[in-house]
Amino acid sequence: MSSSSSHSFDVVVIGAGAAGLMCAIEAGKRGRRVLVLEKAEKTGKKILISGGGRCNFTNLFAAPDRYVSNNRHFCKSALARYTQRDFIALVEKHGLHYHEKKLGQLFCDSSAKDIVALLEQECQDAGVRIWCNAGAEDVTRMAEDGPFRVTVNGEAILAPSVVIATGGLSIPKLGANDFAFRVARKCGLEMTPTMPGLVPFTFEEVDQKRFEGLTGVSADVAAKTGKTIFRENVLFTHRGVSGPAILQISSFWKPEQPIILDFLPDEDFQSLLLAERKANPKGRVIRLLSRFLANRLAEKLLEPLGNIPELGNCSDKLIRKITAAVKEVTIVPNGTEGYRKAEVTVGGVSTSSLSSRTMEAKQVPGLYFIGEAVDVTGFLGGYNFQWAWSSGFVAGQNA
Ligand code: FDA
Repeated sequence: MSSSSSHSFDVVVIGAGAAGLMCAIEAGKRGRRVLVLEKAEKTGKKILISGGGRCNFTNLFAAPDRYVSNNRHFCKSALARYTQRDFIALVEKHGLHYHEKKLGQLFCDSSAKDIVALLEQECQDAGVRIWCNAGAEDVTRMAEDGPFRVTVNGEAILAPSVVIATGGLSIPKLGANDFAFRVARKCGLEMTPTMPGLVPFTFEEVDQKRFEGLTGVSADVAAKTGKTIFRENVLFTHRGVSGPAILQISSFWKPEQPIILDFLPDEDFQSLLLAERKANPKGRVIRLLSRFLANRLAEKLLEPLGNIPELGNCSDKLIRKITAAVKEVTIVPNGTEGYRKAEVTVGGVSTSSLSSRTMEAKQVPGLYFIGEAVDVTGFLGGYNFQWAWSSGFVAGQNA
């Protein structure tokens, strides 16, 4: 931590991740004296590991319907006031090169380090002070309408505005913790129950046996849980399933809820089987299925049906069963890989306690919550960083 001649600032931002740095930049540009406190030895550690080191920093299709929250309208205001185009303009202003990988996902051409450098440069230009190795221990209010007192390394910092940007619970190894939730509870804010999101599922022993030998195999599926469906890849792991379709669906999953995988989402497989039975009665189902799926996977899906006769000898009932074995594969995960592997935390500080225009706590003027700590969780694909930028921006305009 660097020393300060004065321990009084206009705004103290706690957490130098995506949301905190964006907020600090905007508040600094308004001429506010801003201090950012960061517990780790450097800023933006999650940005650095994101997107496989290339940071999927936003999504061209960012829109409120790509977010999970108890109040799906809450994110509208911030997302409208600081859009993906605004962040892209910032990236371009710094001369960074980027590309769309797929589905509107924008990644740096070179490294996620460029995004952290961009944010640090903007902070510097806006006169923002950043202290690293400075974990905030507590936030208290001096008097009803007095400044907040933030304790850090045994010292006190006073400020009329405090922004909590300490993220959620995912990846404790990187220092993730419940600081935001503790402050929220202490201040009487509502909390939405939290759970790991964008996380792989783990199998019961029986499912592990059922899919044994498929580790590393991936396939394009439609994955469904409840009423939610995602169309992307599934990847078998040695403990369960992962891949984009699974990560997406995990944010909607409730314990003990089944997940249904359709391995031929574009095919009317039953009609195909019936047509093939007529045209090629000596044909084999496995040969037909292997046209669409890896052989190992095709065999595994048909395994529960035992010896399947030539197509000409398959009854209508058996054809229905074969179709279900491929298009309605039901898995009931015994859990997820947890916060250890989750990209995000679903739930958090309840949106009912915050102003959607400013992110300020309704009952505690001057106290703001932004980023992952808030009950707004994006889909996979750059949406979570966009929420960090947007919520950070609006808080920075007001703190
Ligand atoms: P974030 O967690 O980034 O920052 C919080 C900061 O607060 C941390 O620096 C922490 O050290 C600090 N802190 C905590 N307690 C403190 C205290 N008491 N005092 C001071 N500081 C404290 N999203 C996306 O859109 N595109 C992507 O490519 C990826 N990729 C990705 C990969 C992996 C492996 C993970 C785990 C996550 C992603 N994400 C992602 C999600 C994305 O990283 C996440 O949504 C944002 O980092 C959230 O930003 P925040 O600023 O809210 O929290």
